[in-house]
Amino acid sequence: MEFYRGRRLRGSAALRDLMAETQVTVNDLIMPYFVVETDDENFKSPISSMPGQYQLSLKQLDETVKKAVQHGLKSILLFGIPKRKDPIASEAYNENGIVQQAVRMLKKNFPELIVITDVCLCEYTSHGHCGLLHEGDSKGLVLNDSTLKLLAKTALSHAKAGADIVAPSDMMDGRILAIRQTLDEEGFQQTPIMSYAVKYASAYYGPFRDAAESTPKFGDRRTYQMDCRNISEAMREMHADIEEGADIFIIKPAGAYQDIIRMVYDSTNVPLAAYQVSGEYSMIKAAGINGWINEEAIIMESLIGMKRAGAKLIITYFAEELLEKGLVK
Ligand code: PBG
Ligand code: ZN
Repeated sequence: MEFYRGRRLRGSAALRDLMAETQVTVNDLIMPYFVVETDDENFKSPISSMPGQYQLSLKQLDETVKKAVQHGLKSILLFGIPKRKDPIASEAYNENGIVQQAVRMLKKNFPELIVITDVCLCEYTSHGHCGLLHEGDSKGLVLNDSTLKLLAKTALSHAKAGADIVAPSDMMDGRILAIRQTLDEEGFQQTPIMSYAVKYASAYYGPFRDAAESTPKFGDRRTYQMDCRNISEAMREMHADIEEGADIFIIKPAGAYQDIIRMVYDSTNVPLAAYQVSGEYSMIKAAGINGWINEEAIIMESLIGMKRAGAKLIITYFAEELLEKGLVK
């Protein structure tokens, strides 16, 4: 008997392409952007822990997105950095806040572009937590139910500005239901919710917090984000968000949690997005800049891993670059 000759199907690039089971295309990619409320319309400030990424004024965002769209980008995720922070995150749900302005501008200039907004309070609270605190609290115990109203208000203000999808990342219990009810009552039944359903408390978010200026002033996010040692907790969070009516489900971070992506893929039938978060980006960039790895190959391999695990969509800071270089089409 002959032994198994796996190499028969690997003999040429064309044959390997023919046999390839996984693709990454432009239709899978979502590019995050950070927009800053500033009077300096030329403001474009490099984020030092995320080489190649910037905080952008409205005008700079417009120009950056214009180029990206010319390279084929179809979908973005927006984060806002307000001028003014306070304990109740007033700027998060200000109809004229920075994200709301950015959405109106982008939808006017790029009607086809899918504009997704991150819905959370941490960039807008003076204490940096994702929800409200008891007055005078310095331990960082975040109130759940009173935070829900503000999240719903924030999501509604984004939808009114023209957001195509709202993406709550706060990890309060019951937020999908609260947001869904508010959107429906106000005539936004057709606005999808992309829930950060499975969001682990993670050191991989470090660079993002520099970028979004959202590091908690005290305590951490472990009372609301998930424990990285847990698997069944991910299923409970998924089921809650499915029942509450989320439409798309994010798993985050992505690289160190591909078992979770696969488990959720196998045990549900809902659209999944993997979020390759800031720390994952920065590690690849750092090694690439130092010439220690083949950066482009590693980026592609990391994204293919997420797709192989079961994600349909990938939120990645590499999206713009990959399209610009023609590595993804
Ligand atoms: C806000 C939010 C965070 C990220 C997305 N939305 C940070 C956090 O929860 O502290 C992380 C994204 C990244 O690291 O790229 N709640
Ligand atoms: Zn937050």
